[in-house]
Amino acid sequence: MQVIVKKDYAQISRLAAEMIADEVRKNPRCVLGLATGSTPLGTYAELIRMHKKEKLDFSQVVTFNLDEYVGLDPKHNQSYWYFMYKNLFKHINIRMENVHVPNGKAEDVDAFCAWYDAEIERFGGIDIQVLGIGGNGHIAFNEPGTAVFSRTGWVSLTKETIRDNARFFRKASDVPRYAISMGIGTILEARKILLLAHKESKASAIAASVDGPITANVPASALQLHADCTFIVDKPAAGKLNRKYGSTLKKLPRA
Ligand code: F6R
Repeated sequence: MQVIVKKDYAQISRLAAEMIADEVRKNPRCVLGLATGSTPLGTYAELIRMHKKEKLDFSQVVTFNLDEYVGLDPKHNQSYWYFMYKNLFKHINIRMENVHVPNGKAEDVDAFCAWYDAEIERFGGIDIQVLGIGGNGHIAFNEPGTAVFSRTGWVSLTKETIRDNARFFRKASDVPRYAISMGIGTILEARKILLLAHKESKASAIAASVDGPITANVPASALQLHADCTFIVDKPAAGKLNRKYGSTLKKLPRA
């Protein structure tokens, strides 16, 4: 696992976007794994800028998102599909048929989840997976206790998450109780993983994931098992790490 510590959120976002853009330029048909949440918004804004100003071409890129609420229509303003459309897809030249967000309205959720993993494989696997991290170490909707080798499936949301989400819905009964989440095992199959984190509120989760033991109690600690995983964090999020890390990708010294 590599750790890169940047000064601030803008620098994290720029580096993550550069790494994704490099992949898109090298392999125009690449498969990107994408996350929602506030953390990757700066990265998406930078990718949009690169598309508009530097002609970064997404016309052949394929994407798979990490998660979605069960029961929400893609057009619902709280759905993750809508979030991705509003914050990335509608601003770039991606073909919407190449976009995959778990279907919260699937009739048979289990069959859908098995199909989602098979579909990722059919496209040759994910080249770069972008992740955020929860304050408790969750990745996607994999909360503490999720099996390290889990596959995409449905999960029940914690009471806290349901309570937090209530403000976004008209009535309590509209708040989703379940979500579909890419499994940790599915995430670990991506060829490259970028986990982004900023703010002090993520410092304990980052330290537990990087320095702690691999445990289902800290889902992101499973990323230690991955051969090409980079954490890009700002100084406050790096504040509880055991060691000092540089601000660039590690490179072999010149001979
Ligand atoms: C979203 C997701 C979540 C978030 C995490 C951090 O698709 O998978 O695991 O990455 O909850 O959220 P933010 O970025 O809002 O702090």
